[in-house]
Amino acid sequence: AGAAMGSLRCCLLLALALLGLRPCDLQGLWRNELGSNMTLLALDMDGTFSGSYHTAVAATDKQILVSPLQGVLQPPGTKGQQPTFGFTVQWQFADSTTVFVGQCFVDRRGKETLETAWLLREGVPSRRDVWKATSVGTNVFTRLPNKME
Ligand SMILES: *[C@@H]1O[C@H](CO)[C@@H](O)[C@H](O)[C@H]1NC(C)=O
Repeated sequence: AGAAMGSLRCCLLLALALLGLRPCDLQGLWRNELGSNMTLLALDMDGTFSGSYHTAVAATDKQILVSPLQGVLQPPGTKGQQPTFGFTVQWQFADSTTVFVGQCFVDRRGKETLETAWLLREGVPSRRDVWKATSVGTNVFTRLPNKME
């Protein structure tokens, strides 16, 4: 059974190589189903990255500002070509922090999709309000063509 699994794995990897599938690349411009945009910059050697997030929605009346993010990519390779990652957004217009976790999927045509889930922590005036301070959700991002800055 072990040998069979081994050759199956071998053929799978060969098939992927023949199809020209490459590992997911996080760098670039992404948009989610709400119209929020984010830019992810090139990864550092250790898999950390930074970027910026321009949300289309906010739980505040304040003017939305582009906000910085810091993330970590789990290296692909041993675990396949569809790596997991996480990043934190430090909102510039609210006392809130959002953490995202996700996985980058590449389909047969090479189209990349970031399937993510997030937790948003809002600043509340006192510990009595902590019960309503955290929201959870999901977002799906697809790559935007790179344009001029
Ligand atoms: C996202 O980018 C598009 C253009 O590329 C723009 O029309 C849209 O307003 C942007 N959304 C936000 C929330 O910045």
